[in-house]
Amino acid sequence: MPQVITSADQLDFTVEDIPSMPLPSEVLMVRPLHYSVEYVINPHMADQVGNVNTIEAQNEWDLVRSLFNQVGIKVHVIEDQEGLPDMVFCANQSLPYIDEDGNRHVFMSIMHADQRKDEVPYIEQWYRQHGYEIHYLDEDKINDFEGCGDAIWHTGKRLLWGGYGYRSSMEAYETISDTYDVPVIALKLVNESFYHLDTCLSVLDEHTALIYPEAFTDEGLKMINKLFNTVIHASKYEAEELFACNASCPDGRNVIIQQGCTDVNKNLRDNGFSVHEVSTYEYLKSGGSVFCMKMLLW
Ligand code: ARG
Repeated sequence: MPQVITSADQLDFTVEDIPSMPLPSEVLMVRPLHYSVEYVINPHMADQVGNVNTIEAQNEWDLVRSLFNQVGIKVHVIEDQEGLPDMVFCANQSLPYIDEDGNRHVFMSIMHADQRKDEVPYIEQWYRQHGYEIHYLDEDKINDFEGCGDAIWHTGKRLLWGGYGYRSSMEAYETISDTYDVPVIALKLVNESFYHLDTCLSVLDEHTALIYPEAFTDEGLKMINKLFNTVIHASKYEAEELFACNASCPDGRNVIIQQGCTDVNKNLRDNGFSVHEVSTYEYLKSGGSVFCMKMLLW
């Protein structure tokens, strides 16, 4: 089996052939006391500089945190830092993994934008204190890699979906695949509004994905359709304005999602998922929602 897979022809296995991985039982979140939109590094941030309501943002974050608790996920909290207004989006600074012996590993990100590079050491410190083996990418060879913003675990499987094109480089996946010893299915992102894989793909359970099809190439769509039995499509409005595909389904059953995704939510319920709607309007202004606001851990 090739380790970094770029075409449907190379997918000579099914999901059942892939060894299983425990479901995450914890998340890490960063308290957004200094969250704001201060610069523009994705199209959603244009016209939003200075527009965040800080109190609202903190209330929304509290609700997201309590929803994770409610669905049985333990939440760890790190304090954010003044001068790092995007630190709350803690899906981006790392890619954790639990190996077959139960050892915890993490790759630290190489942030694409200079404005976000200083976030990484703070997150790294948390992993260090919690006994993770820390891995780094070679900055001489790899330009960027934004953690679980672009690298998404297939629910319950030792299989990674890797987005590239805007914030992460394809080359990162060679190293990650070798070190974690997992296949990576690389998906090129082609629509600037969907600059991270987690804005256009949500892996809901082993057999179900939620996607915004226009964010992918034809080959990418072929690979997605080949590995998932059910692929739910979000409309342009729900995907682009409400970040429907940035939902989080930590346990393969409960979906935490921005409120108002009417069509997607109906589809989710029809497919047996429990839907938990939450307002993340203040975070949509920065180009993020539920999935970006946490890091799943084991
Ligand atoms: N303003 C942040 C950025 O552009 C938002 C990050 C959202 N995170 C995500 N995983 N999509 O970097």
